[in-house]
Amino acid sequence: MNELPALPAFPASRPRRLRRTAALRKLTHEVSLQPSDLILPMFVAEGISEPRPINSMPGVVQHTMDSLAKAAIGAVEAGVGGLMLYGVPTSKDAVGSGADDPNGILNQGLARLKFELGDATVLMGDLCLDEFTDHGHCGVLANDGSVDNDATLRRYASMGLAQAEAGADLVATSGMMDGQVAVVREALDGVRRSDVGVLGYAPKYASAFYGPFREAVSSSLEGDRLTYQQDPARGVREALAEVALDVAEGADLVMVKPALPYLDILSAVAQASPVPVAAYQVSGEYAMVEAAAERGWIDRERIVMETLLSVRRAGASMILTYWAHEAANLLR
Ligand code: PBG
Repeated sequence: MNELPALPAFPASRPRRLRRTAALRKLTHEVSLQPSDLILPMFVAEGISEPRPINSMPGVVQHTMDSLAKAAIGAVEAGVGGLMLYGVPTSKDAVGSGADDPNGILNQGLARLKFELGDATVLMGDLCLDEFTDHGHCGVLANDGSVDNDATLRRYASMGLAQAEAGADLVATSGMMDGQVAVVREALDGVRRSDVGVLGYAPKYASAFYGPFREAVSSSLEGDRLTYQQDPARGVREALAEVALDVAEGADLVMVKPALPYLDILSAVAQASPVPVAAYQVSGEYAMVEAAAERGWIDRERIVMETLLSVRRAGASMILTYWAHEAANLLR
């Protein structure tokens, strides 16, 4: 032992005191998660007879109609607060005709889940064209190949009506066209469906973290969505402006997306938003953890719960996560 200078006899402050026992830690915790805070995104595919695994999202599948119903019921029984549904059609075209067809896979899936679950869960439909277009963009294209904002709005309005008719409690406008919330709200009100809510995707970044999702919906997109989704190099100012627009247009909730790489944005939105704030832990966030866990490099369950807790701590009232069912089980 070296010669030491005189040290103060005792530290004046001892934060470790409240960390000593599990009971002390539990009593003093400030952030908690409940199964009902979690929303499970699900995929239903047309024309398959067995659930089809998604390579880049181990544990997540494209469902058949029957396996969708079964998995959804299981998740709701585990206490999950809501379901977000995506459809994977067998045929796609330039305008995404399957999206607002009542017999289209997404609307059929919503109807099936409404039939099975009624008001026992909050049923949400992804209101976007990318799963249904042969070019993979979130809207219809103009002659010059750009995504035509206002022509797309007409498609979104029609999709909103189809999803409401199928049984969605909330429609999730995820396409990032200007004015999309207003147009969908107006269309719903016009057919006396003021009961159906709009979940505004604001802010939503043009993120590489959506990579595995492209496989999940068998997307044919080449290129990126930088002309309509937000630039990751922009900041809080633009994020708050997007939120203000969605709220002014009638959004009942807003959602920040992705989640973990955008906690600064989430925190600012959570403080400023007059409506409840959701965060979407997207496919790439899921895939990173699953891949590292598969190699035995991380403690999977602890990381899953820690990321969820972090997103909650940053201010999200609810979290979309592919781990929703599993996390609900771990929380019970
Ligand atoms: C648009 C939509 C996407 C995601 C949710 N809704 C894809 C995109 O914007 O490119 C991504 C979700 C995820 O990565 O988990 N329909």
